[in-house]
Amino acid sequence: AAGSRPGPAMELLPRGPAEFGSSRYWERFFRQRGRRPFEWYGAFPELCPVLRKYIRPRDKVLVVGCGNSELSEQMYDTGMCEDIVNIDISEAVIRQMQERSTGKRPKMSYVLMDVLQMDFPDAHFQVVLDKGTLDAILTDDEEATLSKVDRMFAEVSRVLQVGGRYLCVSLAQAHVLKKAVEYFSQEGWVVRVHEVAGSGDEQQFVLPVFVYVMTKFKKIPGSAQQILEIWGRRLLLSPPRLPQQQERGAVGGQAADPCASPRYA
Ligand SMILES: C[S@@+](CC[C@H](N)C(=O)[O-])C[C@H]1O[C@@H](n2cnc3c(N)ncnc32)[C@H](O)[C@@H]1O
Repeated sequence: AAGSRPGPAMELLPRGPAEFGSSRYWERFFRQRGRRPFEWYGAFPELCPVLRKYIRPRDKVLVVGCGNSELSEQMYDTGMCEDIVNIDISEAVIRQMQERSTGKRPKMSYVLMDVLQMDFPDAHFQVVLDKGTLDAILTDDEEATLSKVDRMFAEVSRVLQVGGRYLCVSLAQAHVLKKAVEYFSQEGWVVRVHEVAGSGDEQQFVLPVFVYVMTKFKKIPGSAQQILEIWGRRLLLSPPRLPQQQERGAVGGQAADPCASPRYA
């Protein structure tokens, strides 16, 4: 795990990348970890400027693979948004989070659910937020893994409204970035990538963190190639570290602090 906080004990780390994608691993992780929160990477203060651009206070937000991160609580408590449903595949962590939030945040809930097969109706959310879950599921580029990710992306796409955003916090490993950009560009969505300011402190050897922003568009025949060209070519040329200059170009030359810029409309 990369982050500025102490990592999990050695015995909690996966034996190989494949374990990251297994529900048994996560159940064991959260049972052994107990109640201590563990923020996989990207803490609220550094993510806030990007999240504020794409999440509006009245949005319905789905957090997939919430773990016991404090991110949703901090979004709620700062008024960024309140209508938040958090899901995770680990029963232990969902029970823990339900207990932790009892009576405190009435508009937010924690539900045991697999992101590959969700119970929500179509077009139910304006935002799907994923911090580290795609990275955990997309452990390699084997066919079985890629088809699992196709199911995840199809579900994310199904539950989002047109105009909705899939915000994915990732370390932008080359195969993860490639899969996300290719899948959503081909669907006709707009894909943006932000490097999170201050996440890659070289003095502490902390890996840089990225937020992919995939905005759902109606699929228009013939347009997919163009969108992939505009966004895909730039992004795929220089993974995993994207200069911030690229993103300024991507959002129309806004070089100022994103927290000070208008919300996404
Ligand atoms: C790297 S952790 C990130 C946890 C949290 N978002 C954070 O940033 O601290 C990945 C999370 O995804 C969850 N997860 C893995 N596969 C899942 C699936 N198929 N459906 C829902 N959650 C899943 C795990 O239980 C774990 O909580």
